[in-house]
Amino acid sequence: MKSKTLYLLFFFSILQLSSCKEKKIDLLAFESEVLKSEILSIDQKVEKLLDQMTLEEKIGQMNQYSGFWDFTGPSPKAGDAAQKMEHLKKGWVGSMLNVTGVKNVRAVQKIVVEESRLGIPLIIGFDVIHGYKTISPIPLAEAASWDLEAIKKSAQVAALEASAAGINWTFAPMVDISRDARWGRVMEGAGEDPYLGSKIAVARVEGFQGSDLSDPSTIAACAKHFAAYGFVEAGREYNTADVGTSTLNNIIFPPFKAAKDAGVKTFMNSFNDLNGIPATGDIYLQRTVLKENWNFDGFVVSDWGSISEMVAHGYARDDNHAAQLAVNAGSDMDMESHLYVTELASLVKQEKVDEALINDAAGRILKVKFELGLFDDPYKYCDEAREASVIGSQSNVEEVLDLAKKSIVLLKNQNNVLPLSKKGQKIAVIGALAADKTSPLGNWRLAADTNSAVSLLEGLKSYSGNTITYAKGADVVIGKTGFVSELTINTTDTSGFKEAIMLAKKSDLVIMALGEHAMQSGEGRSRAYLGLPGVQQQLLEAVFAVNNNIVLVLSNGRPLTIPWAAKHIPTIIEGWHLGTQSGNALAQVIYGDYNPSGKLPMSFPRSVGQVPLYYNYKNTGRPSPVNPGQVFWTHYIDQKNTPQYPFGFGLSYTTFAYSKPMVVNTYSQDKQVTVSVKITNTGKSEGKETVQLYLRDLYASVIRPIRELKGFEQVVLTPGQTKEITFTLTDQELGFFNNQQQWLVEKGDFQVYVGGDSQTINQVNFKL
Ligand code: NOJ
Repeated sequence: MKSKTLYLLFFFSILQLSSCKEKKIDLLAFESEVLKSEILSIDQKVEKLLDQMTLEEKIGQMNQYSGFWDFTGPSPKAGDAAQKMEHLKKGWVGSMLNVTGVKNVRAVQKIVVEESRLGIPLIIGFDVIHGYKTISPIPLAEAASWDLEAIKKSAQVAALEASAAGINWTFAPMVDISRDARWGRVMEGAGEDPYLGSKIAVARVEGFQGSDLSDPSTIAACAKHFAAYGFVEAGREYNTADVGTSTLNNIIFPPFKAAKDAGVKTFMNSFNDLNGIPATGDIYLQRTVLKENWNFDGFVVSDWGSISEMVAHGYARDDNHAAQLAVNAGSDMDMESHLYVTELASLVKQEKVDEALINDAAGRILKVKFELGLFDDPYKYCDEAREASVIGSQSNVEEVLDLAKKSIVLLKNQNNVLPLSKKGQKIAVIGALAADKTSPLGNWRLAADTNSAVSLLEGLKSYSGNTITYAKGADVVIGKTGFVSELTINTTDTSGFKEAIMLAKKSDLVIMALGEHAMQSGEGRSRAYLGLPGVQQQLLEAVFAVNNNIVLVLSNGRPLTIPWAAKHIPTIIEGWHLGTQSGNALAQVIYGDYNPSGKLPMSFPRSVGQVPLYYNYKNTGRPSPVNPGQVFWTHYIDQKNTPQYPFGFGLSYTTFAYSKPMVVNTYSQDKQVTVSVKITNTGKSEGKETVQLYLRDLYASVIRPIRELKGFEQVVLTPGQTKEITFTLTDQELGFFNNQQQWLVEKGDFQVYVGGDSQTINQVNFKL
């Protein structure tokens, strides 16, 4: 062992003496002796490799290009395939995104490996957000399952398929907390709560990365978008964010920190500015918080073109200045701004950028490539046979069906209309989304095939012997619904109403599939109205006028405002965009093969004017009127303060009763608080409940929210069965960050609530 190390060191000195960095080095020898060495640590290998690289080659590692078919954002340099090719050959590209499929990945990898001087493999990135080809529910829907194991499994399946298609890095999970349903990207996240969001962030990172990144069925994950992108003002995409210290530390950062602690290999910064500094150029976010305070040793990729966008922000004077600001701030890789590759070398030569920062950034990127095993075999993710057998396999389909069922939230079930009987009923299915086989896939499913989802109509037909007829009623959107194009909402065409009304009249029950088309949420899809788009509300009311026995199945990528439906429609199911198996999952819930168990991960407002709306708000100095009719308290004169449906809410076909929670010990003795509660299934069917624990710190040196989720557990109970659940609250749950970023656990009075949603009044007090 020792002699081998000595040999290696000797080998290196010879190599270094003899190698002129500009000449092609004897990579074959270098590779087998160094890059694949079992003696050297990855850090040592990175160091040795950096020693062999020219400044331009190191900068090349920091350069990421999209494939030659740009579809995830406007390419700042369209039609630049020739230049990209030249840069690949020179070793000036460290990563490609949007190159998918073994054939394509192998081809591009071959160019750098065989033609560039050092042959350093590319890291191939892609937006694998909720599945690759076999599509899971959109992340917001997955979050509604509160099932961490199932969410992890979904990320595992995504990694399995993506890696089989040659991909080694996903730009997920998006861990941005958002309280604003107007923001289209809430569909990509886990909702409004930092506790639930952190748990889900960990599940997703673990699912994508597994326990061994070099296993070819795992891929590197990316916590994005750092930071505060979910707080863009007025929910308007790419807008500015102004966020105070307390919210930043206690609400926005926790899921990022959790992802880091779970070992996420990369971070992506964000398009927005935060308190006047674009995140991409923010030293505080990327260097102080992420790399110093949290000790993150992976790399940070910019968002698409976000380095050059610092000019439009009014932060950088020109492109050259933007590159300087970004690299100094800690953005390690440039996604499609094309600025590192053009500007950084001269910035280093002019001493405006320290070469040590280039070494650090390139080193971080190389390290992840080593961890992925790309230096052992650059084609390790390029196995045609695996690609053919893994993608779309039956077991993947079963996994996404399982999570789709668990993601459905039953919002209303007056008179227990659901579950429906499987025979003897005449059912009219109405709404364009019922027959749609693409929209259920949701946004961000770039590799999935159009028309590949099971539609609601197909699901309903295949799970029952009922007589099922269909009428579209009205289109939701008209014309092309592509990823980059604007949508045309149908606001005028009601010509299909007549047929729908006729059908409804003749039927025992109507299932109406209404909501958003997949391309009405996601990036660039902010909305100022949150109702049913287009003429759908009109359609709903017209059908209701002739048959009020309606089951409304909502499809959407964000909370909607549905005050009329909430009041008049007896049965409402939140069906999100559930992925490949959407129709089967909905049918299983509608017919009672699966008892719904989902709980909302975001509050549903009554009207847009309430937004931002969230359950963990602060009490204010005037929380309620002193006398009835008094006006000077925190409220609207034309709307309630409460949501239509609160965070954590969701019904089951059975019912649950909770005992009063009990605090079974004292903090002074145990340095933790244990709370127990008994829960009983009081209904007639087996069901799953998500038992939620909320905490309120009644007074503190920085005001704490009215309540905060600090624990949850899922329990399955048969009718009449009771189980006791115990929660342990440690300093991690009991404390908070003050405005000096110190973690404090303060003595005082607390309330703890345990129940089935964030409005539970089942409460007990304790002291710290
Ligand atoms: C822009 C999006 O903001 C980001 O989330 C995504 O990963 C990149 N485009 C790449 O497609």
